[in-house]
Amino acid sequence: MNNVTVITHPLVQQGLTRLRDKRTQPQAFRRGLEEISTLMVYEATRSLRVIDVPVETPLEATQGFQLEHEILLVPILRAGLGMLASLLELLPNARVGFIGLKRDEITLRPVAYHQSLPPNLGGFEIIVVDPMLATGGSAVAALDLLLEKGAKYLRLVNLVASPEGISKVQKHHPAVPIFTAAIDRQINEKGFILPGLGDAGDRLFGT
Ligand code: PRP
Repeated sequence: MNNVTVITHPLVQQGLTRLRDKRTQPQAFRRGLEEISTLMVYEATRSLRVIDVPVETPLEATQGFQLEHEILLVPILRAGLGMLASLLELLPNARVGFIGLKRDEITLRPVAYHQSLPPNLGGFEIIVVDPMLATGGSAVAALDLLLEKGAKYLRLVNLVASPEGISKVQKHHPAVPIFTAAIDRQINEKGFILPGLGDAGDRLFGT
């Protein structure tokens, strides 16, 4: 699939397996999601735009690099929150915006209930994070909102994605790269990814 990167690193795959395991309790799930998120975003930021900058070492002048744009992390509430703390460890200067979306359990369509985003989104490399890409409705709604507000450079990081979710995002936002640890088989009639890992929000927060 174009523009989709499956992160096959062994530590990511081992971590994902622990998260899939139904015996993994909320405390271990939270910890595991944090660990895997750092590894995933390390991979997902490999293609960030950089500019040349001069630097003086103690011995002489040379050429170095710095990120061209500031980074804005946008976790989709609630489950995206489980990825945030560890991403801020890796990207301590990143800014953070929030988009709250809740899937209606009957229609499976996302309902927006919160947003807090900085101005001038076009100046940021925006990394949208959410453990699950199921029907794709939440991701498309979040990307729509960010683009309406002027976002230019977007990427999406999901722990587990369904083929249906990827198709939907690619149909609406073909230019947005997707990074995931797994493309699972399908979604079921309730919108759960199979085999998946259950409801990430519930498993994170014990609800
Ligand atoms: C889950 C999940 C994603 C969304 C994915 O959130 O965390 O945000 O569903 O589904 P989609 O691709 O079909 O839109 P949910 O709506 O259950 O809210 P929560 O994170 O608060 O549990």
